[in-house]
This record gives sequence, C-alpha cells and structure tokens, in this order.
Amino acid sequence: MIGQEKKTAWNNGGPEGKRWLQQRIFSIKTLSLVVLAVQTSTMVLLLRYSRTSSAENHQQYIITTAVLLSEILKLTLSLGFLHIETGKVAKVTFDRLYRDVVLNFWETLKLAIPACLYVVQNNLLFIALSNLDAATYQVTYQLKILTTAIFSWVILGKRLTPLHWLSLCFLMLGVSLVQVESSTWNDNNSSIKASEAKGPLGDSDPLPDSEDAPPPDVNEAHPNTEVSWLLGIFAVFVSCISSGFSGVYFERLVKKGTQPSLVIRNIQLGLFSIVFAVIAVSSDWSSIKEGGFFQGYTLTTWGVVLIQAFGGLIVSVTMKYADNILKGFATSLSIVMCTLVSWLVFGDAAPSTQFIIGTTIVISSTVLYGFAPQATAASQIRGSHVPSTDSPHKVQLRKRSMSDIV
Ligand code: C5P
Repeated sequence: MIGQEKKTAWNNGGPEGKRWLQQRIFSIKTLSLVVLAVQTSTMVLLLRYSRTSSAENHQQYIITTAVLLSEILKLTLSLGFLHIETGKVAKVTFDRLYRDVVLNFWETLKLAIPACLYVVQNNLLFIALSNLDAATYQVTYQLKILTTAIFSWVILGKRLTPLHWLSLCFLMLGVSLVQVESSTWNDNNSSIKASEAKGPLGDSDPLPDSEDAPPPDVNEAHPNTEVSWLLGIFAVFVSCISSGFSGVYFERLVKKGTQPSLVIRNIQLGLFSIVFAVIAVSSDWSSIKEGGFFQGYTLTTWGVVLIQAFGGLIVSVTMKYADNILKGFATSLSIVMCTLVSWLVFGDAAPSTQFIIGTTIVISSTVLYGFAPQATAASQIRGSHVPSTDSPHKVQLRKRSMSDIV
C-alpha cells in the first residue's frame, strides 16, 4: 500500500515522489561516502603495513604488478555486476557489452584519458606511501580537494562561494603545517636512522621499499631521507592533479547522460586501465624475469590488491551519487582514523603539536566547506540529468549540512 502510494507519487512527479527519490539518493550517497572513508583508512594502513612487513623479509613485491592485479579484479567485478544486472543471462550480457562497449567505440575511447592518469596515480600512491608516513600522506593528499574544486569549476561549471574558497585556503594552510612538521621530523630523524637503520615511515618501518627504493639499494637511490621525503611529496602533488582532473572528468561522463550506466563506464575504464597497467608492468620486466611476477607477495599484499579494487568501485559510486568534492570530505575523515591507528597500533611517533594543529585546520576547513551555503547557481553541471548535489532538488540540498557528508 505504502509502496504503491510512493510509486504513484513518483509517477505523478509529485512532492512525495521527489522526497522518496531524494531519500533514496541520499542514502546511497551517505552510505557510499561512509564506506569510502573506512576503505581509504584501511587501504592506507594496510598498504603501509604491507611495505613494512615485506621490508622485514627483505623481499619486495613489485608495485606495478599489484596495481595490474587490482585493475583486473575491478574489471572482473564490474563484469560480474553487469551479468547480475542483465538477469544472469550470458547472451544478454555479451549483447550489452557488444552494443555499449564495442559498437559505442567513441564513448569507450573517452575513458582512455582517466584510465591512463589513474594507472599513473595508483603507482604514485605506492611510491608516496613508501616514502612518507601514513598520516602525512593522508593529510597532504587532501590538497586534491583544491584541485578537484578547480577542475569542477572549469570542467563542470560548478560555482563556489567565497566561503568555500576560504575553506579551501585553510585546507592548504593546514596541509602546509603538516608538511613543514613532517619535513622537520624527517630531518631530525636522519641521524637516528643512520644509527638505528630505521625508515621514514616510523620506528617500526626498517626502510622504504618501493620499486624506486628497494632496501638493498636504498642508499644509492635516496642517500638521505630528505630526498625520500621530497619524492613522496612530489608523488602526492602529481596525484592530486591527476585525481582532481580524472575524478571530475569521470563525474561528467556518468552524469551527462549519453551513457549513464556506472557499470558500463567502469568496464570501459577498466579495459583501458588494464592496457596501461600492463605497460607499467613491462617497465619492471627485468625484475619480474629475475624474481617472478609474484615475488614478495604476502597475504597483506593480496589484501591491498583487494581493497584497492573495492575502493575503486566505491569511488565510482560516490562520483555518481554524490560528487568529487564531497568524496574529498569523506576521505578527510579517514585522516583522523589513520593518525590514531598509526600511533596506537603501528607505534608511530605521537603526533606533535604542530601536526595536531595542521590536522585540526584541515578537518575544520572541510567542516566549514560542508556548512557553507551553496552559490545560487551552484552545482550545475552543464547538461546534467542526474540527481545529486547537482539535481533538480538542489534548493533543498543547498541547505545541506555535514549530515550530508557523514
Ligand atoms: O584518490 P582518488 O580519489 O583520486 O582515487 C580514485 C581511485 O579510484 C583510483 O584508484 C582509481 O583507479 C579508482 N577509480 C576506479 N573507478 C572509477 C573511478 C576511480 O577504480 N570509476
């Protein structure tokens, strides 16, 4: 009865139906943002742990192989979702793939750009976490909110109020404080590291261990921790630009309408991602020939691959049902979780006052952004048909509070 009423209201396009639809979208949006916050924290901590434990065993897994595996897993999962969506009839699934991916080649080709950028970014993520501690990485990576806002403005025509921009400036201030603190911390630890053979990841981390800095050659590759820190920060900066652009580009594609199916878009993205990930793997060919594709793999490495793949799918859901800037806020929550777990579980140094101030500013600026009222013509994606913050319900959603985010 109630369901019927809702259906009728929705069919009539009445306020009841709109509210019902809004609630539905709101719940998918909220859930995806919460899951993303938890996934990001788990991913960062597990990745860091995977490097720490493999460094202890003196055998490193090859970063590009892990990225390739997670791309393959993501594509497999997306194909599985499509199969479920088409009623588990293989012929229908193949027909849909042929029609939407092969025949619709130009639409598919559009995904080559974010696919290439994401593969580079995913490799940089491993490099960054090999050279920075988890909390510094997380906070610095928040700069992607700024790059995302700029790309949202340029590509989507999303208008931000001065309060939004102010909160973004605060965000940068907070990030800078954390960086300065981290830089000083690394300098101070250089001497300790020399005598105790400890790495820039903290006292439980023997040495950085990415492909760019395998333990036996670490001193040749990075004679001091400052170089290692700079490399990590550089990797994060490039990732911020890539993340902002690719995210907004993908958001536009899934909201614009010619092919709004998230599953199909993920399959299109996955096909190109695998091609680029294979190219990245080929650059490690000599190491793979020597030690094998799965050298250095532990259970934790497989966990990282799994969570990375799962995270990619969650990210795509947040882009479709929320937006990229809100996604940034959700991941900022994971900073708090990461810092606490890093300190309490991994035994990292307790956060210094400056670090705490910087992190507080970062988090406060995200709250400020969430509470700031939207610009009158805000959140309009040119040509968008999809309800989200950019929906016909934007008048109501404009009044959103932080409860939208969490
Ligand atoms: O840090 P950022 O939020 O930009 O990371 C996005 C992540 O989500 C990347 O690892 C990217 O590969 C993944 N992604 C995905 N599928 C999408 C969009 C993003 O797997 N449709």
